[in-house]
Amino acid sequence: MDMKTENWSSTAMRPVGLIIRQKDPNNLEMPFDQLEDFITPSELFYIRSHFPTPKLDPLAYRLSISGAVRNELSLSYADIRAMPSRTCVATLECAGNSRVFMVPPVPGAQWVLERAGLTDEVCELVLEGADRGVPKEEPKPPGPISYARSIPRTKAMESNVLIAYQMNGRDLTPDHGYPLRAIVPGHYGMASVKWLTDIVATTQPFQGYWQTSDYGYWDDSEGTPVRRPLAEMKLKSQIARPRVYEMLEPNRPYTIFGAAWAGDTEVTEILISLDAGGSWVKGDFVDPISRHAWRRWKYDWITPAQPGRYTLLARAVGADQRGQPDAHNPNFGSYVIDHPLPIEVFVAAV
Ligand code: MTE
Repeated sequence: MDMKTENWSSTAMRPVGLIIRQKDPNNLEMPFDQLEDFITPSELFYIRSHFPTPKLDPLAYRLSISGAVRNELSLSYADIRAMPSRTCVATLECAGNSRVFMVPPVPGAQWVLERAGLTDEVCELVLEGADRGVPKEEPKPPGPISYARSIPRTKAMESNVLIAYQMNGRDLTPDHGYPLRAIVPGHYGMASVKWLTDIVATTQPFQGYWQTSDYGYWDDSEGTPVRRPLAEMKLKSQIARPRVYEMLEPNRPYTIFGAAWAGDTEVTEILISLDAGGSWVKGDFVDPISRHAWRRWKYDWITPAQPGRYTLLARAVGADQRGQPDAHNPNFGSYVIDHPLPIEVFVAAV
């Protein structure tokens, strides 16, 4: 057996499960060191919800499309399932996160929007979920609100923006948005609204809580800081193996393994540093370029003969020749953690 391929697919013996960051509402993280397949198994797919998971009856369920449209629609779950469907692979990453993922789901939002007939003035589509509550973070709104995010009209009309009812070939689980959710490939996960009940076409930019207070950032408008909603995922890569503080034997083959992705560019190069950023070497991609899907990568390393502590970094480069930034931009607050993340390992003889 080839040692190198062995160590990047050797997690089968480890316990499988999501890391619980918070319960009720759920914030469960994928154990990234268990990254194996191009398609993340549903059991390992992260869950991020702001309110308790609503229990929706698919028979009573309606998806309403209203606002600046010529024909208001109210579609049943069966109506949606009867529409032509397609599958897409997209990486989903929560903006607040150093986590990732993959979704294959179903009908194009475009199809529903065309049937509703957007008026010329429409600039955004507000996607609203069935879950409600008072957000935990300040400034809190005066009462309970529904989870809602908007996407620009041009984005909503892209053919791969989906109203999904399945993930990995099975109906969505309650935590992932059963019966229906939006999937907005290329945007951070907050745009992929779960338990989708309302699509409202608006002629003014939406100013809701998760558009401004949360999932927003400070941009610069001719010297004046202005608040804007997060949207496209930034270029990013992450090392899955070795894990932080993993013990490695000296002078042995070890395949460093990870994934890289981006929202609005393609990942074309992966660079690995074995000396905390002092120098960089090229890694190899395991997956081909596929728009909005991540690319797993690997680097066949001979661990140092000299025992000690080593810092590994990975840096992706996009089709626009731009690499990940050196440091986190504080204007993004606790979001968009897109700088190379250090993985410290120990090399020591067993
Ligand atoms: N949709 C609703 N209705 N309520 C939510 O709290 N969380 C969003 C998004 N859609 C959320 C939602 C966030 S922040 C993320 S990152 C993704 O769902 C997570 O999707 P997942 O839990 O299926 O992985």
